[in-house]
Amino acid sequence: MCTPVQTSAQTSTQAAAPAPAVRSLPRIGDKAPDFTAITTHGEIRFREWQGDKWTLLFSHPADFTPVCSTELTELAKRHKEFESRNFKLIGVSVDSIHSHLAWVENLAKILDTRLPYPLIADVDKKVSELYGMIHPGESSTVTVRALFFIDPKATIRAIIYYPLNVGRNVDEILRVADALQTADAHSVACPVNWKKGDKVIVPPPKTEKEVEARNALSNVERLDFYLVKKSL
Ligand code: BEZ
Repeated sequence: MCTPVQTSAQTSTQAAAPAPAVRSLPRIGDKAPDFTAITTHGEIRFREWQGDKWTLLFSHPADFTPVCSTELTELAKRHKEFESRNFKLIGVSVDSIHSHLAWVENLAKILDTRLPYPLIADVDKKVSELYGMIHPGESSTVTVRALFFIDPKATIRAIIYYPLNVGRNVDEILRVADALQTADAHSVACPVNWKKGDKVIVPPPKTEKEVEARNALSNVERLDFYLVKKSL
């Protein structure tokens, strides 16, 4: 039912794998590649499925594995927090649709949590390869833990990768979602460790005129001409 997972540690004693073919992977600012796929909610065309929502497209290494089980059920428990941010969630792994369906039932049984979002069955690795989710140095057979934050205009706005042995942090995923939406809504940037409600950064000036305009701002925390914070 599960795809065998081969990690880099297991392959380290074997002959080095041939260098992967150079291919352009989606990057921040690129349009999110479109695709059709079989999912646990039926066949979808990604762009149509996304509609006018933000989307978190995430990969997990394999069904019926412990860390993935904790991650996917935690995302399910906190699904309303994504919905309230206008975010849709969709998962992908190289497992079959039968494996996904069985795992969804198993998670509902053993962890009392039903996944409200679809899982893509990417047996032919079409989606995983399109999005660069397979990192052969980590595993040549399964996807790493990738997160793609895609805005309503289908532009990739943030990408985060984790290895097979580190589970993701849902608070951090939500923090990135908040930061992207806050930056867009107020034309600001979010500083280190920022979380919703904290002060934001007024973008640095690019001309002397902008420096002047910035010097005239009131109700801001001015640390220097290029480092100005404000509350929203
Ligand atoms: C896990 O989810 O527990 C896992 C999956 C693949 C490799 C290692 C761990």
